[in-house]
Amino acid sequence: MYRTNTCGELRMADAGKTVTLSGWVQRVRKLGGMTFIDLRDRYGITQIVTNNEIDGALNEAANHLGREYVAQVTGTVQERTAKNPNMPTGDIEIIADSIKVLNPSEVPPFTIEDDTDGGDELRMKYRYLDIRRAAVRKNLELRHRMTMEVRRYLDGLGFLEIETPMLVGSTPEGARDFVVPSRMNQGQFYALPQSPQTLKQLLMVAGIDRYFQIVKCFRDEDLRADRQPEFTQIDCEMSFIHQDDIINTFEGMAKHLFKEIRGIELTEPFQRMTWADAMKYYGSDKPDLRFGMEFVELMDTMKGHGFGVFDNAAYIGGINAKGAAHYTRKQLDQLTEFVKRSQIGAKGLVYARVGEDGTVKSSVDKFYDQDALQALRKKMNAEPGDLILIMSGDDAMKTRKQLCELRLEMGRQLGLRDKNKFACLWVVDFPMFEWSDEEQRLMAMHHPFTNPKAEDIPMLDSDPAAVRADAYDMVINGVEVGGGSIRIHDSKLQAKMFEILGFTPEKAQEQFGFLMNAFKYGAPPHGGLAYGLDRWVSLFAGLDSIRDCIAFPKNNSGRDVMLDAPAALDQKQLDELALAIVKPEKKEA
Ligand code: AMO
Repeated sequence: MYRTNTCGELRMADAGKTVTLSGWVQRVRKLGGMTFIDLRDRYGITQIVTNNEIDGALNEAANHLGREYVAQVTGTVQERTAKNPNMPTGDIEIIADSIKVLNPSEVPPFTIEDDTDGGDELRMKYRYLDIRRAAVRKNLELRHRMTMEVRRYLDGLGFLEIETPMLVGSTPEGARDFVVPSRMNQGQFYALPQSPQTLKQLLMVAGIDRYFQIVKCFRDEDLRADRQPEFTQIDCEMSFIHQDDIINTFEGMAKHLFKEIRGIELTEPFQRMTWADAMKYYGSDKPDLRFGMEFVELMDTMKGHGFGVFDNAAYIGGINAKGAAHYTRKQLDQLTEFVKRSQIGAKGLVYARVGEDGTVKSSVDKFYDQDALQALRKKMNAEPGDLILIMSGDDAMKTRKQLCELRLEMGRQLGLRDKNKFACLWVVDFPMFEWSDEEQRLMAMHHPFTNPKAEDIPMLDSDPAAVRADAYDMVINGVEVGGGSIRIHDSKLQAKMFEILGFTPEKAQEQFGFLMNAFKYGAPPHGGLAYGLDRWVSLFAGLDSIRDCIAFPKNNSGRDVMLDAPAALDQKQLDELALAIVKPEKKEA
């Protein structure tokens, strides 16, 4: 028997027992004639002791253990003289009778401790060592518990978990696809699914009624902290439902997860906000509502005072950073630099401090007398000690997005974005379409299968940009953790949608014929949603990047540095697939 107990299990009640543990050697310390070994496994760390005076050979063996050796120890549990209250096993230790090396280890490239000395790339290259660290392992444990709870909740509601294929056809209208060449159909390609969207709709046509799948999705898009090229969705679809049924079911799941995983009981219904309001007050379709600082539109208040920047602006908006009037000139200059950074691209920032006596001092005092500044103060609802920050621009949407970045930065600087506080929100009534500069046409904002709002259908021809959709996102702390919609189930309306999106009937038939044909055979009214599992886990774990809750993630260039993928294929494989690589021509220096 390799072990009688795990390294995280033994307590004072076990004192006197003879036990066998197996695990990895975290550390060996020599203290006088005694040697202390920290033996680690998935469950914890137990201290092992040998004593030169009792058994010299055994003590010698203990001193020869290296870091990350796999060892088996048999001995007696005893109470420790120097207890460690920071460890669950800190009251006991094992007096060893025998130590057996099951497998030695080379010196690991970084220390396997919570505060490791390993940099990102190194940890990813040796991810199997990184996962030995409790900090990483705990995220994987949390992920497991969350998927178990998801399955429990959905199974309880009669959802069926059904797998859909990974080798599917390429679909336009989304991100870029990852494609897979077919050997048996040379010159043809599968695509990996960006989501099982159309397949889950076909399952509704098939009468499945309530479907879910915890499923890998693949999107070839630029990576960010909350994006991976392959990620996991909790993908769901229901038939014979209205938007409220979906919202209630999946709000219920969110509350279930909060309760079971974080021990937080959320009793109130989640706030709902229209997309239009989210953009107006927060400049974002995923506002972080852990704090206020809503935008106040200042066109009337600030125009007409001879300050050209504002007089010519298409949008002027301000936020009230409560209690931040103490910001120094240097801090304000840094904020100005922040909004001017290329990722944000604003031209500048105007500020106004409300002094303790109520007078307002601004960076544009030249143009605004005290009366005008008091009008600003009133409009901004600012009190003594507050700091008003104003941005303007010639493109209202762009300026709002810039002001959104400033709001989030101020929230961060003022400590208003506490990771242990959760603000849950449904954003509803998304626009049906958005204009694509790249494609020079309207694109579906969610996807082309989303139902337009019944009352907006008459505008489909006259003013498509104004049409709203039965689409919704769940946003927590400024992170889009899920989204979905009610689907079109009428093949004529679906055909109309493709027409607006610029598809000829032939092209629509070629690419989505399978779905439109299915809709001719009795498609039920249906809709659904997909949660991003990686985002949920990182939110609950308080992580800055979803990478940390994925066992083997890709780096920011989309590489798996451990497997060294992607990589070139050898000529034989290329020949089988009838592929030739056209190397991009080298640019002249
Ligand atoms: P959507 O594209 O909004 O909807 O995706 C659903 C959720 O998946 C997560 N997500 C991601 N997580 C990590 N990395 C990524 N690259 C990534 N992309 C998306 C987000 C997002 O809210 N088929 C529809 C859902 C539906 O309509 O039912 C869909 O895929 O949390």
